[in-house]
Amino acid sequence: MNGRDLVRSVKAVGMVGTAQGLRTVRASWRRWRADATGLAPRRTERARVPGPVTEVEPGPGGGVVRFARSELRVRVTTGGAVFWGWDGAEPEPSYALACGSPEPDPRAVLEPDKEGGWRVVSERATVVVSRQGAVELRTPGGALLRRDLPPRWWEPAEGGTARWVQRSQVPADARFFGLGGRSGGPRLRNGTYRLWNTDPGGSFGPGDDPLYITMPVQMVVADAGTHLVFHDNTWEGEVLVREGEEGAGSGHDRGGSCEVRMDGGPLRCWVMTGTPARVLHSWASLTGPPALPPTWALGHHHARWGFGSEEEVRRIVAGYQEHGLPLDAVHLDIDHYEAHQVFTVDRERFPKLPQLAGELRRSGVRLVSIVDPAVKAEPGVEAYDRGVAADAFVRDAAGRLVRGVVWPGEAVYPDFTDPRARKWWGRLYEERLGQGFAGFWHDMNEPVSFAAFGEATLPRSARHCLEGRGGDHREAHNVYGLAMARAGYEGLRELLPEERPFLFSRSGWAGMQRYGGTWSGDVSTGWPGLKASLSLVLGLGLCGVPYSGPDVGGFDGSPSPELYLRWFQLGAYLPLFRTHAAITAGRREPWEFGEEVLGHARVALVERRRLLPYFVTLAHLARLTGAPYVRPLWWGCPEDRALRDCEDAFLLGDSLLVAPVLERGARARTVRLPPGRWYDTVTGKAYEGPGQALVDTPLSRVPVLARAGTVLPVRGRDGGLELEVWAPAKGRTGGGLVIADVGDGWQRAEIERYTTRWSGRRVVVEREDGGGEGGGGVPGRAVRVRGLVE
Ligand code: GLC
Repeated sequence: MNGRDLVRSVKAVGMVGTAQGLRTVRASWRRWRADATGLAPRRTERARVPGPVTEVEPGPGGGVVRFARSELRVRVTTGGAVFWGWDGAEPEPSYALACGSPEPDPRAVLEPDKEGGWRVVSERATVVVSRQGAVELRTPGGALLRRDLPPRWWEPAEGGTARWVQRSQVPADARFFGLGGRSGGPRLRNGTYRLWNTDPGGSFGPGDDPLYITMPVQMVVADAGTHLVFHDNTWEGEVLVREGEEGAGSGHDRGGSCEVRMDGGPLRCWVMTGTPARVLHSWASLTGPPALPPTWALGHHHARWGFGSEEEVRRIVAGYQEHGLPLDAVHLDIDHYEAHQVFTVDRERFPKLPQLAGELRRSGVRLVSIVDPAVKAEPGVEAYDRGVAADAFVRDAAGRLVRGVVWPGEAVYPDFTDPRARKWWGRLYEERLGQGFAGFWHDMNEPVSFAAFGEATLPRSARHCLEGRGGDHREAHNVYGLAMARAGYEGLRELLPEERPFLFSRSGWAGMQRYGGTWSGDVSTGWPGLKASLSLVLGLGLCGVPYSGPDVGGFDGSPSPELYLRWFQLGAYLPLFRTHAAITAGRREPWEFGEEVLGHARVALVERRRLLPYFVTLAHLARLTGAPYVRPLWWGCPEDRALRDCEDAFLLGDSLLVAPVLERGARARTVRLPPGRWYDTVTGKAYEGPGQALVDTPLSRVPVLARAGTVLPVRGRDGGLELEVWAPAKGRTGGGLVIADVGDGWQRAEIERYTTRWSGRRVVVEREDGGGEGGGGVPGRAVRVRGLVE
């Protein structure tokens, strides 16, 4: 146990000396003992490198290059993604891929290159393999994007899985992003980033790493081009990032590097190249399109651990109504369960939950339920008895149920890597639907078992089904949350086939977007926590998870009115807009912070509602193209180095640039602008990019700029969809896509394409696809042109 573990264990909800504290100590011993006896120690290891090339076998999409001590399979696929795998690794089995491996591109074949190695040329990238097993990724123009040095394995003499390390070089100007949800980004600075989904315990700030969602997905952005690399391996690992340094024109650049070290599992990766938009599109084609949230989930949510009773929920909802604050969902945390047990209700405090849900539903507010994976280990507890009967829980090497400790006390864990257990679990949501819940909030699924010492999760030796292949927690840990999301999502699809499930999960892995979104987890209340909130949303978006957002106001403590307001103003422009806090934390309702904050929070909420059609459009676009709603400023011009380093603002879709206030007392801030004209949406003032602008940030607002020429779908006063058009710069044109709400089912949405241009002294807006009511380019929707200052 290190010092930090000790502090944590003491902090562990003040459990020392309590029954729960004793359970935690016992569970930690059990975990330690299980691993001491259940995992073979690595005594002697033998290092291995590929050695010299011996043979080459061209095949569909590339082929196999054989070396003295390994072999490398290279395969360009029809979607443009390139796969390579060592030691016979194939794309499958994989938890990330949505529908198996895409077809090999028959036009791509291994051919000798000038340097004596081999290469595969494809439309979007060239892969060059050296005689010693280095692999280069180049643009079609020949510029180097990444060079993987020959890998190195360490094989345990007593057998078992080999550890490996893969070192890569990138250009000196390259910047790294991604690796899941990282609090200290979005730009990943020099350091070691662990790949092991972790509940930080308590609350976290920018220095805490890793967190709940880690994934071996890196987005690398350099002058030469952008690429995404995904090491498809669920084992524990770490990534060492070292940014390069440029020698200020001296010619002595030091390139950047990155080292992926894995404790086991296959050495295989996928790479995608092109513009950021293309890269994310390829990524979504490979790992699945993001689930489309129902429209209400794009509104405002209010959560709290500890509402405590139906009356309190009613009081909060009435408060929103009385203060003229739009509200779309209320989330019930573990305190509405009977003794913290999942799939139960405390009948004393919540005697008529279905009635409450119906009442709220009629006033336009949905109820969302927390769902924890751990089931209280006690005969008589329904979920336990049924899970035991279904043989759904994780066992140890000796076949005994693995017990941990979570909120309800001693608990067992469904093995979500077992298709049978997923099916069983998915059906349990019927009880939740019967209570009137419309959405689901998966928590504690890293998975957590409270620890007095050691790690707060299951023993590594715990056995898992892993889709029938069998294995232990070292391999299953990182996909536990992903597989739980799958179980919930598939269950809901069966139980309620006509509605799109709404689900978001604290933990997850590559591909989790297929089932839903996520949220920040327990972000600490403070200005650093506010900054970390934005970092997480941006980073996850670049890993293909577009729907997320923080606990507005922070999870613990009490934010100052100013901090609360700034968090609220940021949250209003993020996909999941939810206030939430711990049971011990201060209030989070907008009216609890004084009249001034209430007024400004109302403005933010009303604006969010006005922008709802835009959020609906962005949700559909994320599904269709993989592009996140929230994008870094460099999204459209990754070659702009100043934008690449800008972390305090973001693009919301194509139309808006949001510059939140992340510092206390700031009443003005500089905003870095991508090329083109940008209008301040409040003052109408025009700014020209690229460059910087100094913009006022009174407490009443955070700067939101609109791109000149853009078409922004908004909700009009009558609730209908209107087009807010921002005038193109003179002599320029613009346009935009609009996808109108089609309800919460599965109807296909229609894409409306608009163009904007000047005609004499007028801005003309036309519908391109001829689908408008009047035909012939007439938009068929109310249009309001703004930003006509010249
Ligand atoms: C975890 C969650 C938090 C929730 C709490 C109680 O800490 O991250 O959101 O309120 O558990 O369920």
